[in-house]
Amino acid sequence: MCTSTESEVIKPVHQCSNCAKVVPKPEMSRTQARLGLQNRVPFERAYRVGEVLGKGGFGTVYAGKRSRDGKSVAIKHVARNKVTDWAVYGGRRVPMELKLLHSVQAVEGVIKLIDFYERTDSFIFVMEKPENTKDLFDVITDKKFLEEDIARNFFRQIVETVLACHAKGVIHRDIKDENILVNLTTGQLKLIDFGSGAVMKEEAFTDFDGTRVYAPPEWILSNRYFGSPATVWSLGVLLFDMVCGDIPFEKDEQICTGELEFRKQVSNPCQDLVRSCLRVKLEDRIDLADIIKHPWMTTENAYNVTSGIINSGDQDIRQFI
Ligand SMILES: Nc1ncnc2c1ncn2[C@@H]1O[C@H](COP(=O)(O)OP(=O)(O)O)[C@@H](O)[C@H]1O
Ligand SMILES: [Mg+2]
Repeated sequence: MCTSTESEVIKPVHQCSNCAKVVPKPEMSRTQARLGLQNRVPFERAYRVGEVLGKGGFGTVYAGKRSRDGKSVAIKHVARNKVTDWAVYGGRRVPMELKLLHSVQAVEGVIKLIDFYERTDSFIFVMEKPENTKDLFDVITDKKFLEEDIARNFFRQIVETVLACHAKGVIHRDIKDENILVNLTTGQLKLIDFGSGAVMKEEAFTDFDGTRVYAPPEWILSNRYFGSPATVWSLGVLLFDMVCGDIPFEKDEQICTGELEFRKQVSNPCQDLVRSCLRVKLEDRIDLADIIKHPWMTTENAYNVTSGIINSGDQDIRQFI
């Protein structure tokens, strides 16, 4: 049996022997068959759209329900004229975001894509919307900052997810608290928003459409950066944000000097990991694969329990360590 974890809509070519036997009906073009766009229930009938979950530079994300079974979904509308990077997929021109998100669907820590629609002026991504979820920006805002045990757990999940995406040839390029969902019941994190991402490459990137305050000094200074060290920099900004409650730099000059002022009580090993990620000189910056081996990451949690409850405003986060 085919066990590939694909979205219900976009079916790329793959080598599963069983699936290879499924021959599309003659009246269906190969492209239509691959993208699963034949005989589809129209979006308006398939989903009910609810309240706005978030608004960003590229469009609006709504909560919604799948009509056939009431499943909770998130519906992201992206205006066609906001799409700058395109990919060809199954013979169709699609936003790069779709191709990248689809390429990392097998990664545990990435949001699942359920459906995709193309319209004259826009694209619609339908994604899973895990119950009892908040984005990490809201969690940090509610809690002011994260205790180190929780930050470690969250950071480890993100680093592992990012490594798995890189292994599949996808670089996210906009890692930040707003693009991470926290399941408040399980403590599981999901990476969302591949809208600024790219296909990973060894050469330098010369374009960047992520968030400037998470961008590395080499981008600010020379409009060039290499994928992995830039990811490491953004992870350093994220870890600082988790344990201090806010990002370390606002202005370009601050990014370029990389001077850090910890405004909360943060342990030395944790400070050391943040500093290792935020070294201005590329050759001094920690390698992505080495983050997971840093002493702070391998520290035993202070309260040695398998689950604990931390309070997040009016919600509880059940933390699985
Ligand atoms: N699958 C989802 N489930 C729940 N909330 C989501 C989901 N996807 C996005 N959101 C919310 O919508 C916001 C914007 O979504 P995002 O994909 O980051 O769009 P943009 O490209 O505009 O930044 C996120 O910060 C998050 O709060
Ligand atoms: Mg976003």
